[in-house]
Amino acid sequence: MSERAERIERIERPRGTRDFLPEEMEKRRAIEARFREIAESYGYREIATPTFEHLELFTIKSGEGIVEEIYAFKDKSGRDLALRPELTAPAMRLFVNECSVMPRPLRFYYFGNCFRYERPQKGRYREFWQFGVELIGSDRVEADAEVIALAYRMLKDLNIQFELQIGHVGILRSILRDVPEDKSSRIMRLIDKKDQEGLAAYMDEVGVPDDVQERVFQVSALHGSREVLTEAEGFTDQHNLEYLQELCDILDFISVEYTINLGIARGLDYYTGIVFEIYAEGLGAQNQICGGGRYRLTHLFGGDDVPSTGFAIGFDRVSEICKMDIQRKKLVVVVSFPDTLRESLKVAEKLRAKGFRVVSDVMGRNIRKQLSHASDIGADYAIIIGRKEVDEGVVGVKNLNTGVQKSVAINELTEYLV
Ligand code: HAM
Repeated sequence: MSERAERIERIERPRGTRDFLPEEMEKRRAIEARFREIAESYGYREIATPTFEHLELFTIKSGEGIVEEIYAFKDKSGRDLALRPELTAPAMRLFVNECSVMPRPLRFYYFGNCFRYERPQKGRYREFWQFGVELIGSDRVEADAEVIALAYRMLKDLNIQFELQIGHVGILRSILRDVPEDKSSRIMRLIDKKDQEGLAAYMDEVGVPDDVQERVFQVSALHGSREVLTEAEGFTDQHNLEYLQELCDILDFISVEYTINLGIARGLDYYTGIVFEIYAEGLGAQNQICGGGRYRLTHLFGGDDVPSTGFAIGFDRVSEICKMDIQRKKLVVVVSFPDTLRESLKVAEKLRAKGFRVVSDVMGRNIRKQLSHASDIGADYAIIIGRKEVDEGVVGVKNLNTGVQKSVAINELTEYLV
C-alpha cells in the first residue's frame, strides 16, 4: 500500500453538534452558575434524568412535530429508546416514579443536553442544551406568574435584549373545539410555525368552516399590550381571558414586562393553558430563547393528573448573545531549572492550595522558552526558581503584565501575589 493510501482521514464531528473550547466553556459555566443561583433563590432544586429514555415517553403526547425530530434507536435487546429531545416529559416521569408523595408544590430545575434531528443552522443544533424549570402541583395563576417571572429574571440578569410574549392555548383551542384533536393539533403546529399559507390550505383540506378559519386568523394575529385581550372578547370562553387578565395584573405589579400574543401555539402538544415565548435580538431566524407554559402530562405516565407549569431556556442561543466578564483566578507559571524542578513543584502545590491557578513545565524547556510560554498563555506571574535563591529561601517573581521582577521570600509569596 502506498504511503498516501495509508494516511488516516480526519474524523469530523457529527452534523449539528459542536465542540466547545475553554474560553466558551468558561462563559457557559458562568451563565449556568447565574441561572442556578437565580432558580435556587426562587426555591427550585436541581434534578437530573437519563440522556436516553423509552421512546414512548416522548411519543405519547409531545406531538408529531417533535416525534419527527427524535433520535430514536433500538438497543441490543431490541428496546425502542430515544435521546431526549426535551426535559419536561422526563421530569414528569421522574415525578410520577419517585416524587408523587412528596409535599407539593415541587419546584425542580434542570440543565442538560437535548437532541433533535433538525436541519442545522445558526442557533439550531442537533445537540443543544436547555436550562429549565418545572413547578409541579399548582393550578393557580400565581404559579404561572412565578414561573414567568423566574424566566424573566434569569434573562434580565444576563443583560440581553428580549421580548416576553404571553398567550393562552385555550383560546385557539376553544375556537377549534369542533375540529377533531389530531387535526386541531396539526393546525396549532402550523400556527406555531407561522405558516399562513400552509395553515389556510390545511384548514380547507380538512373542512374547517370559513367562519372558524377567519376567527383562527383573527385571534392568532392579536399581539400587543394587554389591551388586545379586549379584542379577543367574544372569540373565546370568558374565563381564559379573565385568567390572562389576572396573570397580567400580577406581572404588572411585580414589574415583569411582556406583550400579549394570542398566536402562540407552541410546537409541543401537552400545553393546556397559558403559554409563553421569549425572543431575543441578535440571533437571526432562530431567535426564540425560551418557551414554556402550563401543561398536564403525569396522568399519561401512570400518575395522578397533576397540573404543572414550566419553561426551558435555549442555553446555546442565550450564550451566543450574552457578553460576560469572566472572573478568573490569577494564573501563575513556575519556571524551573533542571536542578530545581522538585522545589518548583512544591511551590506550585502550595500556591494551588492558596487558590491560584498554577502550571509548571512538563516539556523540559529552558528558562527562556518557559518564560515565553508563560506570556503566550496569558499568565499573570512567572515565578523563577533558581538553585541559589531556593537555598536562600527566595524566588524571583516576574509580573508579566508590567515586566517588573523582584526577589520575594518563599514564605511571603502568597501575600505578594494577591
Ligand atoms: P421548546 O420550545 O421546544 O420547549 O424548547 C425550549 C427552547 O429550547 C427553545 O425556545 C429554544 O431556545 C431551544 N431549542 C429548541 N430546539 C433547539 C435546537 N435544535 N437548537 C438550539 N436550541 C433549541 C420545550 O422543550 C419544553 N420542554 C419547555 C417547557 C418546559 N415547557 C414546560 N416546561
